[in-house]
Amino acid sequence: MAQQEDVFKKIIAHCKEYGFVFPSSELYDGLGAVYDYGQNGVELKNNIKQYWWRSMVQLHENIVGIDAAIFMHPTVWKASGHVDAFNDPLIDNKDSKKRYRADVLIEDQLAKYDEKIQKEVEKARKRFGESFDEQQFCATNARVIEHQQKRDALHERFANALNDNNLEELRQIIVDEEIACPISGTRNWTDVRQFNLMFSTEMGSTAEAASKIYLRPETAQGIFVNYLNVQKTGRMKLPFGIAQIGKAFRNEIVARQFIFRMREFEQMEMQFFVKPGTELDWFKTWKQTRMAWHQALGFGSENYRFHDHDKLAHYANAATDIEFHMPFGFKEVEGIHSRTNFDLSQHAKYSGKKIEYFDPETNESYTPYVIETSIGVDRMFLSVMCHSYEEEQLADGQTRTVLHLPAALAPVKLAVFPLTKKDGLPEKAQEIVDDLRFDFNVKYEEKDQIGKRYRRMDAIGCPFCVTVDQQTLEDNTVTLRDRDSMEQRRVAISELRAIVLEQASITSLLKKQK
Ligand code: GAP
Repeated sequence: MAQQEDVFKKIIAHCKEYGFVFPSSELYDGLGAVYDYGQNGVELKNNIKQYWWRSMVQLHENIVGIDAAIFMHPTVWKASGHVDAFNDPLIDNKDSKKRYRADVLIEDQLAKYDEKIQKEVEKARKRFGESFDEQQFCATNARVIEHQQKRDALHERFANALNDNNLEELRQIIVDEEIACPISGTRNWTDVRQFNLMFSTEMGSTAEAASKIYLRPETAQGIFVNYLNVQKTGRMKLPFGIAQIGKAFRNEIVARQFIFRMREFEQMEMQFFVKPGTELDWFKTWKQTRMAWHQALGFGSENYRFHDHDKLAHYANAATDIEFHMPFGFKEVEGIHSRTNFDLSQHAKYSGKKIEYFDPETNESYTPYVIETSIGVDRMFLSVMCHSYEEEQLADGQTRTVLHLPAALAPVKLAVFPLTKKDGLPEKAQEIVDDLRFDFNVKYEEKDQIGKRYRRMDAIGCPFCVTVDQQTLEDNTVTLRDRDSMEQRRVAISELRAIVLEQASITSLLKKQK
């Protein structure tokens, strides 16, 4: 575990050193859980967004996109339930004055039981070697059984407390489990209180006329309130979807793990409107479609899992998360929810407008049901970074730091180097760059030895490097070096565009979805 934490720290440092992610307002020591994307980060982020957008909007005839405003009428958030119920249970430690999410403290405690079990398993695996049967060991080892029983009991108590919204019980669990504040080390806790996560501000020029409005905590409501506009102007027939990418804001109590939990972040959400009664079939379809989108990146199916929700929101009839194996465990990257007709019905009620669909096949009017797929851009970015980062031991004893980014997501697709700074090589290299820059991001580099230039490109995940040498001037060929294998081969300059587009374009990635 400590080793994984170390790797995570290195990834964060790498993100800063190579222009991917900087702490916001770093000159002023940063702002909690707010981050800026640098010159390479913004390219990677844009590529992730493009991959999602094109997969949703371009590849589905019945999905269209919108871009709604961040500010919305305040009643939207009353109707959606966010004003009354978008809360986290918080608890303060009286000695350190630090604030925590009560549910997160308990989830961490559950993870500790898992770690204890895992430790026993690893110890036994070493002891028994090849013949080790993990399932049998877990079913019979007294210590594992004890940890598992404690874990299950805690999980049940926790799920009940959440379901009943029982804040006193949450506090009691923290006391009974003897959970201590990581800063002060004491168990001197306040009561658990609810804390609304929405940021608010004032709109209007005078204090009297100003009204309180919120920074949207999810992009989904911009889609719901535009359902009628899009359905009518686009003459959309059910089933159809509306997709959107945009910023969302949450005043997270526990903001940690770098860009995993931020106060300002970006979501890619798609609401799929369907006929009532068909929603659970569509829920299944979207689970598969979204998993295929993730797995096309080639990170290995063992690094993903579905986590079906124990506790469903009162308006949902199915919900699952797609979790990815981060250095700090399997964590939610995307949520897929069957939200019934809750949101549209609420907006109809609060606005007094009829929000229905006239079905020309059955001559009936009804409020559509909704399947939502909701993924955080920043979490996706983090999962890509975590999976791609490697400190690779080379045969010659050296170590290289390389980002094995999926080529289609790489900020720079091709780097072009003149072998030396003379004999017309820089001019020839520049000619190649000028020709290819219309199709993808190309970088020209002449400083330092070739080996060092390769390393710099490895560190930002550039999939291909090209070296221009004397032979290039004679026969218009270059050496093309592959980032992952480090193999080099001679290719004609005229082939470069096709090679890069075939392996490193978003189109090539879209075609891998199955
Ligand atoms: N409209 C549904 C919705 O917003 P959610 O599970 O609260 O559902 C969806 O959020 C996704 O947004 C999450 O799976 C996660 O990827 C991302 N997300 C949520 N809160 C976040 C935060 N504080 N920082 C970064 N990403 C976040």
